[in-house]
Amino acid sequence: MTRVICIGNTTLDKIWPLTQLPTTGGKYRASDYLEVGGGMAANAAVAVARLGGNAAYWGRAGDDSAGRTMVQEMTDYGVDVSQFRLFAGARSSTSAILVSGDGERAIVNFRGAGVPDDAGWLPLEEVRSAQAVLADIRWVEGDVAVLGAARAAGIPTVLDGEIATAAAWQAVLPLVDHAIFSEPGLRSFMDTPIETDADRIAALRKVRTLGCRMAAVTRGGEGTIWLDETGIHFQMAFTVDVVDTTGAGDVFHGAYALALGEGQAIPQAVRFASAVAALKCTRRGGRAGIPTRAEVESFLADQGGRHMPR
Ligand SMILES: Nc1ncnc2c1ncn2[C@@H]1O[C@H](COP(=O)(O)OP(=O)(O)OP(=O)(O)O)[C@@H](O)[C@H]1O
Ligand SMILES: [Mg+2]
Repeated sequence: MTRVICIGNTTLDKIWPLTQLPTTGGKYRASDYLEVGGGMAANAAVAVARLGGNAAYWGRAGDDSAGRTMVQEMTDYGVDVSQFRLFAGARSSTSAILVSGDGERAIVNFRGAGVPDDAGWLPLEEVRSAQAVLADIRWVEGDVAVLGAARAAGIPTVLDGEIATAAAWQAVLPLVDHAIFSEPGLRSFMDTPIETDADRIAALRKVRTLGCRMAAVTRGGEGTIWLDETGIHFQMAFTVDVVDTTGAGDVFHGAYALALGEGQAIPQAVRFASAVAALKCTRRGGRAGIPTRAEVESFLADQGGRHMPR
């Protein structure tokens, strides 16, 4: 089985559906209540497990009820949580989400508190047991340690490039082989505006000068642009009936890292990840909506969509 270590963010969403969003203080009745885990790396780990990989999540939260709920949910999805550490006295990141009947959301996020940044406890010698490492950009100390160990062992590294500081990019990107940004993430990397494909390509060229083999930007329903040593490429998004795009980017990254770990070439890995993310969009839930491997294979077999060199 292909082992993928996913390091980074985990958070717990507490969701209250109700008919209408409150406009003022008062008492309101919810029609349901759900607790679901989120976070880029944590969702990516769930995607790897769901797609038949051996997924490990390495990360941190508080030793509180939210932390324990997140550990339990990931365990239920079959993710190895032996390096998901809950810290006594620390508080987990949680969100309260009110969703109205027409899908409008009010989100209140608490980022958590007291979770230590030090990464000295991570068992770096275990990194060589993996075939790929996926990191998000929310735990720079952990990323530098784990991506550095992967680089030293010749294991491919993938970054989920969401919004981050210049200092974070500088520390992490030189250790990344495949840097796959969201549009807001790529904007936060550049200090010039990004509006056209020419701007995107210029930004991805700059990413590659930092040592990344492949640099990409995912653009939701507009597909994915990437640059590697062979040039500029484009993968269209698959056309599907979109129900819920929550977690599409996170799931794309998990699927891409798994495909790389299995030895797939970049165009095949991008196509596979795009199919997984598109299928996820056809179902509710960032995790509950992730397809199985068999569903992805049969979907791909029915599609003609290929990547096109530009
Ligand atoms: N509407 C859609 N139809 C088909 N595929 C989609 C759609 N939205 C997203 N995808 C797929 O998911 C990939 C990642 O989506 P997107 O670029 O929106 O990620 P993101 O901006 O990181 O968002 P998030 O992390 O919040 O999910 C896209 O490159 C595409 O392959
Ligand atoms: Mg994303």
